[in-house]
Amino acid sequence: MIEQLLAHKTIRKYKNTPVEDALLNRILQAGCRASTTGNMQLYSIIITRDEVRKKTLAPCHFNQPMVMNASLVLTFCADFNRFNKWCKLNNTEPGYDNFLSFVTAAIDALLVAQNVTIAAESEGLGVCYLGTTTYLTAKIIDILKLPKGVVPITTLTIGWPDENPEQVDRLPLDSIIHQETYNDYTDDEIMSAYREKENRDENRKFVAENSKETLAQVFTDIRYKKSDNLLFSNMLLSVLKEQGFMNQ
Ligand SMILES: Cc1cc2nc3c(=O)[nH]c(=O)nc-3n(C[C@H](O)[C@H](O)[C@H](O)COP(=O)(O)O)c2cc1C
Repeated sequence: MIEQLLAHKTIRKYKNTPVEDALLNRILQAGCRASTTGNMQLYSIIITRDEVRKKTLAPCHFNQPMVMNASLVLTFCADFNRFNKWCKLNNTEPGYDNFLSFVTAAIDALLVAQNVTIAAESEGLGVCYLGTTTYLTAKIIDILKLPKGVVPITTLTIGWPDENPEQVDRLPLDSIIHQETYNDYTDDEIMSAYREKENRDENRKFVAENSKETLAQVFTDIRYKKSDNLLFSNMLLSVLKEQGFMNQ
């Protein structure tokens, strides 16, 4: 198992071969063994296989080719709708219309998504997360017909790998781990933590191609710009209000 985790790489190109229902079922069974808050299982998973629906979903993910290319698109949703309904049918009033409840359900959904990732990879499948799920969230809600109490949190594209990319870097473990209490970084420690990442050929190329001076600028000025973050953050807050999570 540890060997598998150490070998992880995101796969963005897939063969045309479908993922059989029986295999998908096995992966989902394993995925849904993830721990969840109070065992409430505050998540739902929407499976998209249909080509037409994938086509309508693709622009919500900025037309990243994995959506059309993958055999399966799984949208993981924070879901209090099911649990709230159960409460109401059992003579009690749920008090889960607040931001903490959203975070709780989002944590559940993410734990399941990562379990599904590991299960899929253990069967030789390739997986890519789509962070775009929390950008144009309202459109996804519309397309997948998500009721109040349900918010998409992340998406996985899954298929049989048709590429074998190099593994990408990770920060050195000792720059991430803190013994007992947080040991805030000196400037030197920060520079040394990111040095290897900055010196990698592909990252140097990335900086040059974007006419930037530093890799950090590629993140702040191009990949995850403040103006985009602010826009999508405000859109997500509206979605949370609309879906009933900001009432307190
Ligand atoms: C929450 C999340 C969102 C992501 N969103 C995207 C995405 O929208 N498009 C994409 O190509 N990769 C996406 N990725 C994949 C990351 O780029 C990838 O995990 C990271 O570069 C590390 O590479 P590795 O998974 O191969 O180790 C996402 C990963 C996570 C965990």
